[in-house]
Amino acid sequence: MTSSITLLQITDLHLLENPDARLLGVDTADSLRAVLTQAFSQATPDAVIASGDITHHGEARAYARFDAILAEFFAGPVLVLPGNHDESGPMARYGGERSLLQFPAWTVIGVDSHENGQPGARLTSADLHSLREQCRQAAAESKRVLIVAHHPMLDVGCPWLDKDRIQNADELLEWLAGHSTTAAMVFGHAHQVVEHSYRDIALFGTPATCFQFQPDSATFTIDVDEIRGQPGYRWLQLAGDGTVRSTVERVVDYPLEIELPHRS
Ligand SMILES: [Fe+2]
Repeated sequence: MTSSITLLQITDLHLLENPDARLLGVDTADSLRAVLTQAFSQATPDAVIASGDITHHGEARAYARFDAILAEFFAGPVLVLPGNHDESGPMARYGGERSLLQFPAWTVIGVDSHENGQPGARLTSADLHSLREQCRQAAAESKRVLIVAHHPMLDVGCPWLDKDRIQNADELLEWLAGHSTTAAMVFGHAHQVVEHSYRDIALFGTPATCFQFQPDSATFTIDVDEIRGQPGYRWLQLAGDGTVRSTVERVVDYPLEIELPHRS
């Protein structure tokens, strides 16, 4: 039997161009380093998935910071997708073949759900066509599929986030569920753990490597829970028999000093 594949998902890094700058009081490069330090002390993955909001403002130098920090830990394959805070121009280096990972029993497909300057998400007909073709190709090779996107395909229970989920996902989920190749979909954007399923497809949302959002919040709310609010990441084990196991980890002792903007 083909051996299992281990993937590390990191998401919503929100890196800044200026090393001295902070986002809501958080040094997002430092929290990313804390995540990677803990994760790589646990295991060395076969690949890393970075599922969007790599940077907060989309500057080229912020992507260079991401490349440099990750290179301190990992030299293997990396799938990098844009989130709503990212910009297509400086992310071109991650496109093309780098949005697809091939393993003997698995294909990992990255879907670009972002539009420059828009918080919300819609897959174009070209995106959908390409995804379906990649799924058909995987099926022809008897491979299972893991799909990665920045935005959720389902509501996560926070109305202020749910208005920006992938709007035309229902039809896609139904199509994917009818093709037994897709085992799971993973995403970011929600800055919290989400674990649902759609028919036989597991749907996994992953905490950010910086701060988290409060579950079930009606409006933008930072999660200050001392465990749930900490930087996090997800391990995915893709087994040779086509099953997926996944766990979320937290950097529990990270000194996250959130500074919320004053409201008058
Ligand atoms: Fe984000």
